[in-house]
Amino acid sequence: MKRKNPYDLRYSDEEYYWSGKPSAMCDRLVDLVRRMKIPRPRLLDLGCGEGQNAVYFARKGFDVTGIDLSRVGLAKAERLATEAGTTVAFICADLIDYKIDRPFDIIFSSGAMQYIPPANRALRFKQLKDATGKSGVHVMSVLVEKPFLPLAPDAEDDVQLFVSGELMGHYGDWEIIYCIEEIFDCRSSGVPHRHAINRVIARRYGAGD
Ligand SMILES: C[S@@+](CC[C@H](N)C(=O)[O-])C[C@H]1O[C@@H](n2cnc3c(N)ncnc32)[C@H](O)[C@@H]1O
Repeated sequence: MKRKNPYDLRYSDEEYYWSGKPSAMCDRLVDLVRRMKIPRPRLLDLGCGEGQNAVYFARKGFDVTGIDLSRVGLAKAERLATEAGTTVAFICADLIDYKIDRPFDIIFSSGAMQYIPPANRALRFKQLKDATGKSGVHVMSVLVEKPFLPLAPDAEDDVQLFVSGELMGHYGDWEIIYCIEEIFDCRSSGVPHRHAINRVIARRYGAGD
């Protein structure tokens, strides 16, 4: 029997399950892209959820595609785009094996890449890098396991967090232009808890400004 997507339930309230605010990485990326002079950056948001980051980029003039497995999240994301007077191509698809059939300048993902099983990650990151144009930039934020932080109360049984340093390892052949690991407070599920997150901005060498 097909398992119900837990995010459908989480996203079913009018309220935003996450903060509803764009990630701190959004402004950072917009600044970078401005310096790189990419006219209408094509951006793919993997695991876009309720769409706040995708809509933010669309409002800044990016050509945005957002994919997620939760149809409930995508419906909310569509609504957000309409309210903002902008357009995003939202697609219900699995980020683990979604076949990217057109080039993107930027691949962005916030809090979703840990759903890729560790054994598949090396291949998947390679495919994503191959699918990124010559001015390619990746902006990845992944949840990281820390021995001093208990698993979040709403964590799924099958989620496998990254380990410290793992994300950078997928970009050894790219230029790392930003990397931070930080701990933040979260109130998802209504129970206060903390996460560790590793954020990396990497770009194909030679794509620089
Ligand atoms: C922690 S939420 C982050 C959502 C959004 N990126 C944000 O920053 O608010 C993780 C998202 O990944 C999506 N997701 C989980 N597994 C997925 C998969 N295999 N393919 C596509 N999306 C997936 C969930 O539906 C959820 O929206």
